[in-house]
Amino acid sequence: MEKKEIRISYSIYHSIEELTKEDQFLLEKARIATKSAYAPYSGFNVGAAILLENGIIVTGNNQENAAYPSGLCAERVAMFAASSQYPDIPMKVIAITANSRKFEVNIPISPCGSCRQVMSEYETKQNMPLKVILMGAKGDIQVIDTIAGLLPFMFHADELKQK
Ligand code: THU
Repeated sequence: MEKKEIRISYSIYHSIEELTKEDQFLLEKARIATKSAYAPYSGFNVGAAILLENGIIVTGNNQENAAYPSGLCAERVAMFAASSQYPDIPMKVIAITANSRKFEVNIPISPCGSCRQVMSEYETKQNMPLKVILMGAKGDIQVIDTIAGLLPFMFHADELKQK
């Protein structure tokens, strides 16, 4: 038997002013995207903004449905839009934020497992790290430099091939 350990590292910023202007702008775009989320069931509006390598920003927000599982998270709405419109342009940064109609979200909003899997797929495909910036409506900001840290043991496309 062998014991192994996985370490991840991330940064916490206590104020948005500590981020680069580019990252602040992206977070602002994510915040604007929360306003047009379709979230009548949860009242939890999530926004995501992706900065592509060519400088274009693609945004998305959560889209809910009366048949609950048919809805989709903001991150995947944004990533699928980016990948479908700019299939060959790497995604450099994704900023994610949220607000609730019922309370103030004062902690960073962390992407769900399915969204992490999708982020990992694109990160692997583009062979370049995708940085993640997480923030609530207020409070600290978390920055993770690569999805690899958010989803250890991810399912890779390689595993579909016989070894
Ligand atoms: N949601 C997202 O859009 N992204 C996340 O990372 C977590 C959850 C959405 C899905 C649903 O519309 C609402 O938030 C409550 O789960």
